Amino acid sequence: MSEKLEPLPGTADIWEPETSQWIFLEQTARGLFPRYGYSELRTPIFERTDVFVRGIGTETDVVQKEMYTFEDRGGRSLTLRPEGTAGVMRAIANQGVAEGDEKRVFYMGPMFRGERPAAGRRRQFHQIGAEAVGRAAPAMDAECIAMLVHFLEELGIRDSRLLLNSRGTAADRPAVAEALKAYFAPHKEALCPDCQRRLDANVWRLLDCKVEGCQPLINGAPKITELLGDESKTFFAEVCRNLDAMGVAYQVEPRLVRGLDYYVHTVFEIQHSGLGAQNALAGGGRYAIALASGDRTVEGVGFALGMERLLMARQSLNLAAAEAPGCQAYVVALGPQALALALPLAQELRRCGVRTLCETAGRSMKAQLRTANKVHAKFALIRGDSELEKGTIVCKNLDTSVQEEWPVAETAARLRAALAG
Ligand code: HAM
Repeated sequence: MSEKLEPLPGTADIWEPETSQWIFLEQTARGLFPRYGYSELRTPIFERTDVFVRGIGTETDVVQKEMYTFEDRGGRSLTLRPEGTAGVMRAIANQGVAEGDEKRVFYMGPMFRGERPAAGRRRQFHQIGAEAVGRAAPAMDAECIAMLVHFLEELGIRDSRLLLNSRGTAADRPAVAEALKAYFAPHKEALCPDCQRRLDANVWRLLDCKVEGCQPLINGAPKITELLGDESKTFFAEVCRNLDAMGVAYQVEPRLVRGLDYYVHTVFEIQHSGLGAQNALAGGGRYAIALASGDRTVEGVGFALGMERLLMARQSLNLAAAEAPGCQAYVVALGPQALALALPLAQELRRCGVRTLCETAGRSMKAQLRTANKVHAKFALIRGDSELEKGTIVCKNLDTSVQEEWPVAETAARLRAALAG
């Protein structure tokens, strides 16, 4: 028995008509983000492992459990990118960004995480993301969030919730960590084994635990926003004020920390009711990353949306599927002479913008028309010996079966008129 060549678990082949949906997402991003001053950046799919470990943080699930890491022939440790931000920061560091300068980029493409596959959770998934790097201002955070919300509007995605919180700055960390430890330590036995370890290693991560048994304790934990210093509180209040001024609706979620360790100040997540258990449609925040080891840290703000989840959300809202562009004309050729002229005619039509398929095998009229119907061609252009003699071609509308005979030299012009009409 032949082996089934299915894609690996957590990966997928993407066929039409779904491909058209992906293109729609990509085109909408490419249409919208430049209006906010962002340009497209394409970074490599694999990087030195260090780029991600330093950027994302050693105590995160992504770095500890999910990265696809391998050695190249030179013994260097490389990793398939699990997210876009760390690579974008590496690329910007490579170009250099002057102090006080700002770079705005967006990106899209595959990311890789060795997670347990489930609905909306893949090992190869795709993100559309954006980063504004170089300056620290609360208005930038609000503008970035507004662009994300605008993008969802352009995609027709309603019924989403924007959750917002602040993690403060490095200066706030010890006080918050101390308060969290003091709260969780007496309940250590009730926590999952990972959280018991997090209690000492990185107590912030505990708030991001998804294990059911840990939730009641997490829900009663001190609110981060109340533990922050004045500078961080003012920054967060300014983000909120700017969002209010733009009419962007949000909900403050005082225990939202997000799964990556590079965040400072603002963090946010968009959840959607149509996604089921994996309900995060997008996530992001402000971050500080050292561009090179020992280098100064540079701040940025950004987000990433999961493309598979965007499509699931659109589907849950019954949004009309984008149509794959179908065939417009099928060149039917009867006899060897007509067959020899079929390809040149098809080429001419394609150059005039018509999506054309063409007989290449010299089959019977019936077989050729069957193929034309199968590919949903709008018109069949039929030529045999008698048309060749007259210098004409028969154009058959495959929806109405109405036929016209045209001078062959006028085929492209007449066909374009017929398609437009
Ligand atoms: P993240 O929350 O890890 O953030 O991922 C962002 C989005 O990617 C999620 O909300 C989800 O829609 C999608 N996603 C993540 N993992 C999977 C998966 N295994 N399968 C399907 N979809 C998934 C980041 O990646 C940050 N880099 C976002 C960011 C940009 N923060 C600042 N700038």
